[in-house]
Amino acid sequence: MGHLEGKMALVTGGGRGIGRTTSLLFAREGSNVAVNYSRSRFEAEQTAVEIQKMGRKGSAVCADVSDLEAVQKMVDEVEGELGSINILVNNAGVRDILPFLQISLKEWQLVIETNLTGTFICSQVVARRMVQQGKGGTIVNVASIAGLIAMPNRTAYVSSKHGIVGLTKQMAMELGDHHIRVNAVAPGVVETDMTSDYFGNSEFVSAVKNIYPLSRWAQPEEVANLILFLASDEASFISGVTIPIDGGFAAGKGIISQK
Ligand SMILES: NC(=O)c1ccc[n+]([C@@H]2O[C@H](COP(=O)([O-])OP(=O)(O)OC[C@H]3O[C@@H](n4cnc5c(N)ncnc54)[C@H](O)[C@@H]3O)[C@@H](O)[C@H]2O)c1
Repeated sequence: MGHLEGKMALVTGGGRGIGRTTSLLFAREGSNVAVNYSRSRFEAEQTAVEIQKMGRKGSAVCADVSDLEAVQKMVDEVEGELGSINILVNNAGVRDILPFLQISLKEWQLVIETNLTGTFICSQVVARRMVQQGKGGTIVNVASIAGLIAMPNRTAYVSSKHGIVGLTKQMAMELGDHHIRVNAVAPGVVETDMTSDYFGNSEFVSAVKNIYPLSRWAQPEEVANLILFLASDEASFISGVTIPIDGGFAAGKGIISQK
């Protein structure tokens, strides 16, 4: 028996990367999954087909997570087609790579609206339904190690992910009475389309080896496993936390040898 038998999950940005891997793992663990996308319909539909092949209900559902009306419509559609949502994974995200002195207001707004406002909108819409249904639920937010420490040239990304860490605590505090648990994961570098330009760069590869105690980056499956744990009843008394999944990166590394 899977860890999510009979559950219904909505995964934002679920057509590729960490979102796709999480959607497929959830289905393997017994969940039906609505795979959200905003533009890449084909990827989300492919993921939904793979979910259906596992004998679960799977559907590609469209909404820009930063658009309240579109999210409300999408959640109506999911509930009508697949059933009420027990698990929300706020995974959709974008990233800026611009120095603080150069980032424009427009570039800042896109990242904040997608990552932070999008997490707020999807969580509020889904949590209201969870409260109405009275059966509790769980929300897992995909933050980042950039939600715990600053990173060069990531002003909006770092700010949005720090915001998600705060929002995770706030929602856990206010939704606990309704038996809704809210947690976040904070990955270090994960090999996905978002980071694909890093891996052919020898300077980056040797920096990761130096800076990450485990001397490597993560695969999406490793992050999906932590999301699964937090979404499952195995984590029944865990709420309000952000768990780093970063090969020890945020634990620190000496800049000179201790020997
Ligand atoms: N890859 C990493 O190193 C890494 C590290 C830490 C955190 N993360 C976080 O993991 C999450 C997934 O990223 P990924 O690495 O799989 O990258 P990705 O680019 O493959 O996936 C991001 C997904 O979000 C979707 N998306 C973007 N804007 C959207 C919007 N407005 N509405 C709906 N969907 C939208 C994209 O279409 C895509 O499917 C992101 O929140 C990212 O910040 C990634």
